[in-house]
Amino acid sequence: MTAGTPFDRAELVAAARLAAARAYAPYSRFHVGAALLFDDGEIVTGANVENASYGLSLCAETVACAIAAQAGRRGGLVAVAVFGGLEDRLGESMVTPCGRCRQVITELAQLGGTDPLVLCASHDETGEFRLSALLPRAFGPANLT
Ligand code: THU
Repeated sequence: MTAGTPFDRAELVAAARLAAARAYAPYSRFHVGAALLFDDGEIVTGANVENASYGLSLCAETVACAIAAQAGRRGGLVAVAVFGGLEDRLGESMVTPCGRCRQVITELAQLGGTDPLVLCASHDETGEFRLSALLPRAFGPANLT
């Protein structure tokens, strides 16, 4: 599977939705799940983890990227799905990755030379964006070689 290979969008969004159920978000009550699809077909998920020191909170996409890195992933990122919302209104509108997460995802993407598709799903619609469109002219590992 390469970045251009077709994949099951519904399956990836479902993985992000399931991951959102594991969010630890007692302060914002905004639950987010992220699912990363790799070129061997494996899906790695994460959810946001907040902290009583609010600024230390980690977004779902960042958690998923850290888990993938710790599993030895250094590229091969084909697609990312994000799903979330206020705990009693999950999926009401699309969640697009925050700026920091765009940079964190870019690290993993650039390492493998892919430009993953980012699926931002709500119950009604799924926005599809290339990572490079969400973070144009990104700074990344390629700049340090
Ligand atoms: N959040 C994410 O997990 N991903 C995003 O892309 C946007 C925001 C989390 C961070 C915080 O725990 C909560 O949503 C409210 O900002």
